[in-house]
Amino acid sequence: MLSAWCVLALLALFPVSQSTNPGVKVKLTQKGLEYGRQIGMATLQSKLKSIKVPDMSGTEKVSPIGKVKYSLTGMQIVNLGLPKSSVGLVPGTGVSLSIGNAFISLHGNWRVKYLKFIKDSGSFDLAVSGLTITAQIALKSDETGRPAVSSANCVANVGNANIKFHGGASWLYNLFRSSIGKALRKAIEQQICPLVAEAISELNPHLKTLNVLAQVDKYAEIEYSMVTPPAISKASIDFGLKGEFYNIGKHQEPPFAPSPFSLPAQSTNMLYIGVSSFTTNSAGFVYNNAGALSLYITDDMIPRTSPIRLNTRTFGAFIPEIAKRFPNLMMKMLVRTTKPPVITFQPDNVTLQAIGTVTAYAIQLNGTLEPLFILNLNASVSARVYISGLKVAGAVALNSFGMTLGTSYVGPFQVKSLDNILLLVLKVAVLPRVNARLQQGYPLPAIGKMNLVKPQLRVLKDYMLIGTDVHFTP
Ligand SMILES: *[C@@H]1O[C@H](CO)[C@@H](O)[C@H](O)[C@H]1NC(C)=O
Ligand SMILES: *[C@@H]1O[C@H](CO)[C@@H](O)[C@H](O)[C@H]1NC(C)=O
Ligand SMILES: *[C@@H]1O[C@H](CO)[C@@H](O)[C@H](O)[C@H]1NC(C)=O
Repeated sequence: MLSAWCVLALLALFPVSQSTNPGVKVKLTQKGLEYGRQIGMATLQSKLKSIKVPDMSGTEKVSPIGKVKYSLTGMQIVNLGLPKSSVGLVPGTGVSLSIGNAFISLHGNWRVKYLKFIKDSGSFDLAVSGLTITAQIALKSDETGRPAVSSANCVANVGNANIKFHGGASWLYNLFRSSIGKALRKAIEQQICPLVAEAISELNPHLKTLNVLAQVDKYAEIEYSMVTPPAISKASIDFGLKGEFYNIGKHQEPPFAPSPFSLPAQSTNMLYIGVSSFTTNSAGFVYNNAGALSLYITDDMIPRTSPIRLNTRTFGAFIPEIAKRFPNLMMKMLVRTTKPPVITFQPDNVTLQAIGTVTAYAIQLNGTLEPLFILNLNASVSARVYISGLKVAGAVALNSFGMTLGTSYVGPFQVKSLDNILLLVLKVAVLPRVNARLQQGYPLPAIGKMNLVKPQLRVLKDYMLIGTDVHFTP
């Protein structure tokens, strides 16, 4: 008795419905990071061009002149290059960025006053070379489940600084060597890391564009917020996203939860996206709840060339009572699911099992629908899935179906005798409409103006794997 209470207490502490297993996983590889570096460097380069070196002035003893009052003003960057940079993964933390051999050229004006009354002035060019910058970019999940980055650690070091004075005497170089050089280097070094931090935090508005709630259609939306902090290993950054369909504005959990799955260790593409059967089954749950998986079939949906028509004459041939009680009437059928369909991913095979009913009506001349019978339907379809833009789309084909009699209002009959009619209805009326919807696709997680380049989709056990390169349109 006591132990039963303990179990109940534990269950209350750990609600079974709460699960942090992701439904969708995204893996960013070194190759993806490398592409990010290329985009990032362009941003950082223009950022660093905004370095403002403050005016400088002071008094120094310079041999052989003695006390010299000097000032450097109007310093402007004329050139800046970041020819060598690399990014790496720091397991558990984030991304390391290192820049080497960078250079900056500055132009400015100098002015000196010495021996009490002698004044001189001119311009100068400063060449800073061997500049190194190392920074760490910390990556985490923000309160909305989107990724967020920050600059964790930054060091900038100016290797060499060479100055060329235009005009003036040669002892100016001594002045530079003894004090101004050091001060200038320091002033430049101090400017760099704040700008690097700024460039890094300017990534956040882009990361915030992750479609954490992707609108699908009038019934559904998909939640793509991160359910776990990003996992950074030596080879990749792995994101665990919720990947769950919901009815719009009504987030009811399905009676099943995502199972753990892991993406294969691949690295030839920039990005891998794994979409689990949990995600697709949550779609089935949502559309079934929304009543979206139902369809009225009318005679005009059957091709003109078909001898089988949706009328009481066709059905009367198999069920005499229909011909007797409802002669010469058109018919209508309602096909709908009674449970969420179940989607199964096996290697190279996507199967969808749907359970529902088929209700047949005779349409009275005054428009009243007269129910004739209800069949229980069990259908299995195979799906072909593919990527279209930033969406996963599909097309299904019938594998098999089975029917049993639910209710008859027209006496007993052989359900089997209706097989061909139902096969026709499924093939020419139901599946084309299902396919028209599947063809429109379902949005994948995406950031900004992202395009997939040569995406490939493979179906593995319990999930589908999309391997792709990406391209951002500016
Ligand atoms: C997929 O598997 C189902 C059930 O195991 C089977 O009926 C179907 O024929 C398979 N489809 C393909 C294309 O192999
Ligand atoms: C429609 O016609 C049927 C058969 O003639 C009749 O039973 C039914 O009451 C009619 N319904 C209405 C609303 O007139
Ligand atoms: C539907 O068909 C499948 C395969 O033929 C079978 O495993 C399943 O039990 C059937 N379900 C119902 C409700 O008839």
